[in-house]
Amino acid sequence: MTFSKKRKLILAIETSCDETSVAIVEDEEQILSNVVASQIKSHQRFGGIVPEVASRHHVEQITICIDEALTKANITPTDLSAVAVTYGPGLVGALLIGLSAAKVFAWAHNLPLIPVNHLAGHIYAAKAASKLIFPLLALVVSGGHTELIYMKNNGEYQIIGETRDDAVGEAYDKVGRAMGLNYPSGKEIDEMAHQGKDTFHFPRAMLKDDNFDFSFSGLKSAFVNTVHNAKQREEKLDPLDLAASFQAAVVEVLVAKTLRAAKVMDVKMLIIAGGVAANKGLRKAFRKSVAYDLTSIKLVIPPLNLCGDNAAMIGMVAFAEAMQGYFAKWDLNANSSLAFPKM
Ligand code: KG4
Ligand code: ZN
Repeated sequence: MTFSKKRKLILAIETSCDETSVAIVEDEEQILSNVVASQIKSHQRFGGIVPEVASRHHVEQITICIDEALTKANITPTDLSAVAVTYGPGLVGALLIGLSAAKVFAWAHNLPLIPVNHLAGHIYAAKAASKLIFPLLALVVSGGHTELIYMKNNGEYQIIGETRDDAVGEAYDKVGRAMGLNYPSGKEIDEMAHQGKDTFHFPRAMLKDDNFDFSFSGLKSAFVNTVHNAKQREEKLDPLDLAASFQAAVVEVLVAKTLRAAKVMDVKMLIIAGGVAANKGLRKAFRKSVAYDLTSIKLVIPPLNLCGDNAAMIGMVAFAEAMQGYFAKWDLNANSSLAFPKM
């Protein structure tokens, strides 16, 4: 596709998990609107995302979000140049709602369709903070993923390390559950961690291993066992110290392995992205370590409102995809396990 219109405007749709989001992005990174309808309250009583409930919410919200995104950006469908949509990875039923809406909208308004990988979206959220410089390394930390992705250029993604079991966000949510916190508990644990001390010294798995992979299930089990054993002995543990100890273990491993990977891969930029990149302890630790140890690398962390799932990040990737002529056919399907190639 070439953008035939004077204004380069993309309508982007994201429905891979529990947020229905529609954004209008102009000229690569200007976000004119970014509507995010969260369903978290509906899932909280189940302690996690219920896929069927998520799909139903997306159906109810998607057209409302499209209208709101257009209105807030003060544009009409005829002003648009293309429609972008997340087609994976994620919950298949949830993805299909966004994909169907995107296809119908694009077809009805005679616009090309740009397929976007959700994790690429998390990485390109960094464009709201800085121009991307290649080669770069991105640490994507979310509820479903923990991956180190090397990018030689725009649109070229290679996994150089990933979790062998739980994702970081998943571990946060599971230990939160053991402490009786509401789902998702990452933000609350982060706040508690700042008021406590690392007194439990939980394990730092794979810290010194000669690879860039991670493992968080041992840490999660150590945490849950500590809490359960104390309960059986009717001992009271300080929840703030528990939170601080858990976060210290997570942050130490993520920072150490990511910095080592950045050095080995000799990158110019390091991006920390995904829902867990909103973690204050993690942001601070990366800023401090990069300033101290890796001054030749530019560290970029997206603004807080673009760390969690949103459609603006999908729109930002779409410009890069379009420049490379990467468009979808009308038979584009959702791919719940869509993955980048491994190096
Ligand atoms: O990227 P995201 O919004 O959705 C997925 O694609 O998974 O990430 C959601 C995850 C949840 O597990 C949530 O607990 C976690 O991000 N999270 C945090 C923080 N804010 C959200 N984890 C740690 N610290 C935070 N401040
Ligand atoms: Zn996400």
